Amino acid sequence: MEQSPKNKLKMAPSMEWLFPTPFYWNKINDQRAVLKEFEELLPSLNFDYLEKWGKTHKLNENAFSTNLLDDMPLLADEVDMNVQQYLVEIGKRDENSEPWGYEVESWVTKIDEGDYVHFHTHGNCDLSGVYYVRARADECEISFQQPNSVMNQDWLLDRYNVSWMHRATMGKILLFPPWLSHGTPRAEGKDDFVRYSISFNFRFGAKYHRGWEQPV
Ligand SMILES: [Fe+2]
Repeated sequence: MEQSPKNKLKMAPSMEWLFPTPFYWNKINDQRAVLKEFEELLPSLNFDYLEKWGKTHKLNENAFSTNLLDDMPLLADEVDMNVQQYLVEIGKRDENSEPWGYEVESWVTKIDEGDYVHFHTHGNCDLSGVYYVRARADECEISFQQPNSVMNQDWLLDRYNVSWMHRATMGKILLFPPWLSHGTPRAEGKDDFVRYSISFNFRFGAKYHRGWEQPV
């Protein structure tokens, strides 16, 4: 039925979508050189499941107390360029200003057939990320959960209250807030399946947030 003029809006409405979550991805410049760098390091790394997580996925020994990037200078440079660009994209630094300094922890995740990564967040840091150093193009997915937990109670917004699946192929770097929950599905049905990714936690120096106070 046609709407009568009195039932029509005179002015088109505006919808403002509030509180976005930044999710950054890019391809690094030279994935072949970084793969070579990684494969030279690989024989020196020992992988195992963590007892507290059970048979989920393997990490390199002392994963959370080392910085793998110390042994991978090519990747460290690629990661740094992307971290600096992330800061530009979120409006924290200008393109031509001094690069920000940070501390970083990084570790390797090894996914064999049948492994998966349970949903988790990262701990006490400012920014997290992952680089897919060796993976097959058709199998690498990572899922993010929407962070606004109260939306779980809102049926009207159920089409927005979903996980976000990102195809994370070899050569891609992803950067996101550490509180954004993520995981990867079980790797199934592929012979000789093995995937390596390198994860990062960044902590920026105190001088960058001096003067910043928790808003109330
Ligand atoms: Fe993670």
